[in-house]
Amino acid sequence: MKVKAIMAAVLVAGLGAGLAIAADGTHDSRSALMKKMGGAAGALTAIAKGEKPYDADAVKAALTTMSETAKVFPAQFGPGTETGDPAASPKIWENMDDFKAKAAKLESNANTLIAQLPTDAAGVGNALKTLGADCGACHQAYRINVKQ
Ligand code: HEC
Repeated sequence: MKVKAIMAAVLVAGLGAGLAIAADGTHDSRSALMKKMGGAAGALTAIAKGEKPYDADAVKAALTTMSETAKVFPAQFGPGTETGDPAASPKIWENMDDFKAKAAKLESNANTLIAQLPTDAAGVGNALKTLGADCGACHQAYRINVKQ
């Protein structure tokens, strides 16, 4: 009985450690990054639509979030993390170079815009057309149950 209890404790501890290690490359970690992406896009959309006043710092912050998130996102899809995410298509692992290229395109377009910051709401709207196309291109190819 005592051995069984110890075994159970070890199993539970092991499970906890496994979960902690799996924090990268899970649906939750991917989803959290993409929610940051969505938040940044939302901030730019509010300015483009005139719901919020143009604010250069806010525009730069949103673009920086997009650039930095796009940079780290593909690392969430490492070898051995192919299963268990209802939102990630197996095509990601089959076409990893293309997946990375789509993330890199968003990163580079965001960086270009940071260097030449849009100066008014209309400029932010134009920037969103470019960036939104980058989001959509990847979602269409690699996100399951896409809306955009
Ligand atoms: C390189 C590919 C790629 C790019 C570029 C990309 N996404 Fe995603 N996005 C994904 C994938 C894959 C998922 C599904 C991730 C998951 O849940 O495991 C996703 C999911 C999302 C979600 C849902 C998150 C959730 O769980 O609620 C939002 C919101 C989102 N993306 C917004 C954006 C926006 C906005 C952009 C552009 C600024 C963008 N994405 C660019 C691949 C990408």
